[in-house]
Amino acid sequence: MTLHISRAISVARRLSLSCSNRGFHLSPRAMVIAIGDKIPSVDLFEDSPSNKVNIRDLTSQKKLIIFGVPGAFTPGCSKTHLPGYIEKAADFKRQGIDEIVCISVNDPFVMSAWGKDQGVEGKVRMLADTNAEFTKAIDVDMNLAVLGGTRSKRYSMIVDDGIVKEMNVEPDNTGLSCSLADHIKI
Ligand code: BEZ
Repeated sequence: MTLHISRAISVARRLSLSCSNRGFHLSPRAMVIAIGDKIPSVDLFEDSPSNKVNIRDLTSQKKLIIFGVPGAFTPGCSKTHLPGYIEKAADFKRQGIDEIVCISVNDPFVMSAWGKDQGVEGKVRMLADTNAEFTKAIDVDMNLAVLGGTRSKRYSMIVDDGIVKEMNVEPDNTGLSCSLADHIKI
C-alpha cells in the first residue's frame, strides 16, 4: 500500500497539468536528478566561452564532487560555500575524489575571476553554466530576481563514472546547510 502511494506521488511529480488552446493535457516535467541517474551530457565553460568542458565526459571513469551555487562573489558563496570545499579539497582527494567542481549560472570570465580571488587552483574547478542548460537539465534552476533571473539552487552531489551517488539540494534553495563540504559523505 505504502509502495503504491509513493509510486503515485512519484508519477504525479513527473507529470504536471498544463493548459493549451486545445484544452488540458498532461506534459512531462523535469525532476531533480536523483541517486542512480546518469549525469546529462551538457557543455560547460572554463575560463572562456571558447573552452568547453562536457560534464558527462568529465565524470567518465572518475569520482567527482560537484556543487552548485546561486552566484559568483555572493556573500554566502564566497565566505562559506566555496571556501569549505577549498579547505577540504586535500581530504576529499585522499578519500578518492578525483575532482571537485563548482558550477554557477554565470559567464566563464566571472567564474574564472572568482576562482582566482578565492585561490582555487589545483583544488576546485570553476565551470560556468552560462545559459543554465545543465542547471535546468538536473532541475535545480530557480528564478532569483535579485541576481537578475535564472540561477542555480545550492546543491552538492557525488558522481561516480557518470552516475549520481549522493544528491543534496538546499530545502530553501539558497541556504547553507546540507550542500556544504562538511556534509559530504564519501
Ligand atoms: C548569497 O549570499 O550567497 C546570496 C545572495 C543573494 C542571493 C542568493 C545568494
